[in-house]
Amino acid sequence: MSYSHSISTRMINLVDKASIIPIIEIEDTRHAVPLAETLINAGMSVIEVVLRTANALEAIREIAQNTTCTVGAGSLVSVDDVIKAREAGASFGVSPGSTPALVDACMDLDFPYLPGGVTASEMMNLAEKGITMLKFFPAEPSGGIPYLKSIMGPLPHLRFCPTGGVNESNFMDYLSLENVACVGGSWIAPTKSINDQDWETISYNVERNLSIRDGVLKIN
Ligand code: 3PG
Repeated sequence: MSYSHSISTRMINLVDKASIIPIIEIEDTRHAVPLAETLINAGMSVIEVVLRTANALEAIREIAQNTTCTVGAGSLVSVDDVIKAREAGASFGVSPGSTPALVDACMDLDFPYLPGGVTASEMMNLAEKGITMLKFFPAEPSGGIPYLKSIMGPLPHLRFCPTGGVNESNFMDYLSLENVACVGGSWIAPTKSINDQDWETISYNVERNLSIRDGVLKIN
């Protein structure tokens, strides 16, 4: 088995137990552990912390060391990001797109990786490297559900995690697609709620969306 196959398979195993991955921006490292504990206690244990704040790596380290959360690092755009995210304790990496250098670095480090692909060629290039689990970003502006349905015909072996414009009102439509393994987004733990330390609202969001997923709560 090649490393690329292995990092993609491990990624599939990670997202399969998730279905919804909260995408999180942490501005204050002190918020990292209470936030992760809130998410786990309410029912979501696979999360992505984006490297878009100065404290993101420190936040990943705190969560990895002090909670049972499976924490990934998002918005990886350089090999340096990959190395630092892994070193901080991230269990997987996510990129909005991909470059050969990023894919090679994740393969060399045997680091589970979810690179983004939107065009058929981007998807085919990743599949050629053995990566069959892809982020689809930005999902809504890129064509959303009709696009993913169309791509299923010629590329049935690929699976996706759509993010970007996914929210409470449309995530079930995405999850109902055969080629969608999970969805991700910021609607579960919005940055404002994190900064306000409004754990109650975040906990409510998790429980509400899991109830929608499980068919216990209907919103449409
Ligand atoms: C991402 O990194 O995938 C997006 O920033 C998430 O997009 P959203 O804010 O529309 O959920």
